[in-house]
Amino acid sequence: MLETWLTRELGIALPILSAPMGGRAGGELAGEVSKAGGLGMLGAARYTTADWIATESAVARDIGGAFGIGLQTWSLDDGSLLDAAIAAKPTVIGLSFGDPAPYVDRVHAAGIPVLSQINTVDDMRLAERAGVDVIVAQGGEAGGHTGHIGTLPLLQEVLEATELPVLAAGGIATGRGLAAVLAAGAEGALLGTVLLASPETIGPEYARDRLLAAGSGDTVYTSVFDQARDQPWPQRWGGRALQNAFTSKYHNSDVDHAKLADAYDPADPNLGVVYAGQAAGLVNVARGAGAIVQDIAARAEQLLERF
Ligand SMILES: Cc1cc2nc3c(=O)[nH]c(=O)nc-3n(C[C@H](O)[C@H](O)[C@H](O)COP(=O)(O)O)c2cc1C
Repeated sequence: MLETWLTRELGIALPILSAPMGGRAGGELAGEVSKAGGLGMLGAARYTTADWIATESAVARDIGGAFGIGLQTWSLDDGSLLDAAIAAKPTVIGLSFGDPAPYVDRVHAAGIPVLSQINTVDDMRLAERAGVDVIVAQGGEAGGHTGHIGTLPLLQEVLEATELPVLAAGGIATGRGLAAVLAAGAEGALLGTVLLASPETIGPEYARDRLLAAGSGDTVYTSVFDQARDQPWPQRWGGRALQNAFTSKYHNSDVDHAKLADAYDPADPNLGVVYAGQAAGLVNVARGAGAIVQDIAARAEQLLERF
């Protein structure tokens, strides 16, 4: 048994959370991960609705009992998504990408702990001051929106800088990766990309196929999809996605928003965004999410026994 602060605190068997992934992580994925012994998280993106949160929370609860919900802090202005997340009674709420201070007390008042994904030590200090319970050091190799510092340097810096429990995210896709961050002092890991070929994910079929075909060098850190899809992410967060014909043509181009929006077609596998991290090269077969997290934990445990 890999027992850590995370497993004890959340009452779970494995020190693994499936990452909140907007557009890809709904109730089925979260439920299967929780059923397997981790804690699955719903990914509530800016364009999510309160109804979606309620429906997918019920699905996750039916399958796996417990689940978490991850929100994008910069997009919470009107508060309705946070209200919906609190009302769904998750085990944990994630407030990532932005200062969580305006929202933490409301979540705590409902008796729910808060985790926050951060990309620099300065971000970590903001989250610490806001009173979050768990820090997630999210490295720049992660899929989706992220920062610029790699997982290992960031994790080491953050572990030295805070007394709060720390999880690692970004590039962890095997027992080796989980063992490495646990050995370094993390209390667990968030897994995203490694689960994205699983049948329980939502999103277009081509996203699973393209991930299976991709190698670790096939991603690009870009804002071009946010511009094309009219997602007003703060400038400091680009997203890591698989390269495709759209990024070849428009990443780092000075084409204006209207033209990008015109050229973008999510139904076209060569143009539509597939957010994924550098762990893409480690995902070569489509397997159920529950089996993946159990295998990763078992292999990490074997590796750590060597010491
Ligand atoms: C498709 C996709 C969507 C994501 N959406 C969100 C999100 O809505 N909120 C969030 O906090 N993190 C989001 N992330 C980041 C993940 O929570 C996590 O940090 C990342 O997947 C970990 O790195 P890995 O992909 O290398 O495992 C997303 C990641 C991916 C791949």
